[in-house]
Amino acid sequence: MRHYLKKTTISTISVLFFIGCTHKKNDNSMIDIKSETIKEKVDSLLSKMTLEEKVGQMNQYNGFWDVTGPVPEEGTAKNKFEHLKKGWVGSMLNVRGTKNVKEVQRIAVEETRLGIPLIIGFDVIHGYKTLSPIPLAEAASWDLEAIEKSARIAAIEASASGINWTFAPMVDISRDARWGRVMEGAGEDPYLGSKIAKARVKGFQGDDLSKNNTIAACAKHFAAYGFSEAGKEYNTVDIGTSTLHNVVLPPFKAAVDGNVRTIMNSFNELNGVPVTASKYLQRDILKEKWNFNGFVISDWASINEIISWGHAEDKREAAKLAATAGSDMDMEGYVYVKELAKLVNDGIIKEEILNDAVSRILTVKFELGLFDDPYRYCDEENEKQNIGNTSHHDAVLDVAKKSIVLLKNDKNLLPLKKEGQTIALIGPLADEKNSPLGSWRLGSDDNTAISILEGMQQYKGNTLIFEKGLDLIEGSTAFTQQVHINNTDTSKIKKAVATAKNADVVVMVLGEHGFQSGEGRSRTELDLPGLQQELLEQVYKVNPNIVLVLNNGRPLTIEWADDNIPSIVEAWQLGSQSGNAIASVLYGDYNPSGKLPMTFPRNVGQVPIYYNYKNTGRPNKEEHVFWSHYIDSENTPLYPFGHGLSYTTFEYSNLKIHGNKFKKDDTIKITVDLKNTGNYNGKEVVQLYIRDLVGSITRPVRELKGFELVELKKGESTTITFELTKKELGFFDNQGNYMIESGKFNVFVGGSSITKLEDQFELIE
Ligand code: NOJ
Repeated sequence: MRHYLKKTTISTISVLFFIGCTHKKNDNSMIDIKSETIKEKVDSLLSKMTLEEKVGQMNQYNGFWDVTGPVPEEGTAKNKFEHLKKGWVGSMLNVRGTKNVKEVQRIAVEETRLGIPLIIGFDVIHGYKTLSPIPLAEAASWDLEAIEKSARIAAIEASASGINWTFAPMVDISRDARWGRVMEGAGEDPYLGSKIAKARVKGFQGDDLSKNNTIAACAKHFAAYGFSEAGKEYNTVDIGTSTLHNVVLPPFKAAVDGNVRTIMNSFNELNGVPVTASKYLQRDILKEKWNFNGFVISDWASINEIISWGHAEDKREAAKLAATAGSDMDMEGYVYVKELAKLVNDGIIKEEILNDAVSRILTVKFELGLFDDPYRYCDEENEKQNIGNTSHHDAVLDVAKKSIVLLKNDKNLLPLKKEGQTIALIGPLADEKNSPLGSWRLGSDDNTAISILEGMQQYKGNTLIFEKGLDLIEGSTAFTQQVHINNTDTSKIKKAVATAKNADVVVMVLGEHGFQSGEGRSRTELDLPGLQQELLEQVYKVNPNIVLVLNNGRPLTIEWADDNIPSIVEAWQLGSQSGNAIASVLYGDYNPSGKLPMTFPRNVGQVPIYYNYKNTGRPNKEEHVFWSHYIDSENTPLYPFGHGLSYTTFEYSNLKIHGNKFKKDDTIKITVDLKNTGNYNGKEVVQLYIRDLVGSITRPVRELKGFELVELKKGESTTITFELTKKELGFFDNQGNYMIESGKFNVFVGGSSITKLEDQFELIE
């Protein structure tokens, strides 16, 4: 295998393409026009397909320009074109731009016997050209409407570029910040993760999949990839059934309930079985128990990887296992195309398995309207008008502001005064236009983010002096998207320290480069990479009035900063409008309202650390050592799940459960009063947690079961009502059956997962 990520020129490919292209128009006459329902159309088409054509629908190839995985030996342009023309390809990924999509689509539609259109997939993870915040950041908004809108914009731009299927949302729950892919998901909590999964699916797919600006979504990676051991990419996953059913699966179920049209399996094994070969996950749970009627795509060559895992002897066995288990389409693996027809002919697998897979794939193609007009996503005028449209920038700016979390503001350094101040802006990420775009953004252009420097320059009342202080990385990230951290060159620190000395306030922008998180980017340390800690401490010595702005794709261990720096702002990687969003928060034009979707550890040794842990048998602090703790660290996190401050303050009072004994079918009403007691208008995410005190399967100390985003003017109060039903009060047993048990429940309401406001009720039957 060759491993690289590169772009080749389109013209080379076009030349290849036009050789031997005869432009025979296929009029789709193989589709029975009298059929009315999609099912009838699918059945009719299926009955006319040869075995090889069926296998073709189950085969997906990467395009010719962008590469998002290791390139297989067979993955030559020549092979791809030949197979396309034979009708052996049902889908392509990483082909984008109406012109390019048209080129490949035309072969499928006009050159093959049946003229079945391709479905075109792409990783539209946080926007296409106009970039939203990375998904983890967006999750910090807890604003489902804004999240849905962000996915909508991504769909509008991607579809205008010829794409009709995104490999998003990533709904993997993860408790391990070392894993680079936490940036792609919604964090650690299955309840929040489920709500966000549904919102994102809705944003991508809209109400009508056949419109030319909606695209099929794909919930990934099914399942448990977020529990890769030690946070190491592509690693073993060994988790218990309780975690699987109660933590890992709920966001997938929510996506399925939201009618997600596709699911991607994943690279990991789960308890000894590579999930691409897991019949239990794909058939028993997904397709049978949940009744999922879309199709399952493998992850990139994950069918081949069944062999490396040591679960299949060769490609033939891998193909058999994956197809039998319910993996409907092979992404860039060249396994199905080579093996499936033979396996059927040899009587090893039944043709019904292929019929089922192909029916699912064709169904989604019909739903997308591709049979009515295979070029419906290929309108060049639409492409020009929609991609990068200014209104999209307004929308991503809005969600970027909402994603920012104020972690600390002790001396009220924030918001910054707008006039008469000398502000030193320091840090390697302060003038960055590339890093804030984050990972996963092949459809966008490098260096197009508004930097924080640019954002702050728009506030003209102060004197702003910028000093980089350090280079975070050495060299460029172009093509390889890999970073080499500067661990040696301190030459710029001195000047930055001198600048900081005379400033009223120092704004320091530190964190991770955008390409330090994402796929294949696990870390063993969660500190500020390179020499940034040194820069921070040196500046602090001359001027402690520091506002630390973090740009990062995962929780970081910043205990020193928390002990010493008065104001800390978690600003993630916020996409195209990054600097404008951050400046408006720093200057108080937007009052921060984000809350952490993932726990921030004090040190790497605490990982995995999460709010919904189990109590243990020895939870209480004792004089002796025999209780559940570390001897060299607190048990508590640095910042808990759900934490986030505002420039105003909120007071919670009067938590009331309306009744104290309930039946399992009752709706339990809970109210709480919230008052804005500070000096600014603001928003608060009011969170409700429960604890089921005794369970036949032990329950976590807290579980999020409701939240509401509330906006209050200063001095204003309101009463918020939550309702709990059996949907929130039960849990899954070790067989995956949902159950609800009588007994006492504690209820907690407040502004984070460690809120103390508490009451209790009892379920009696
Ligand atoms: C591998 C990644 O795991 C997956 O998330 C992505 O969608 C595919 N590559 C396609 O790029």
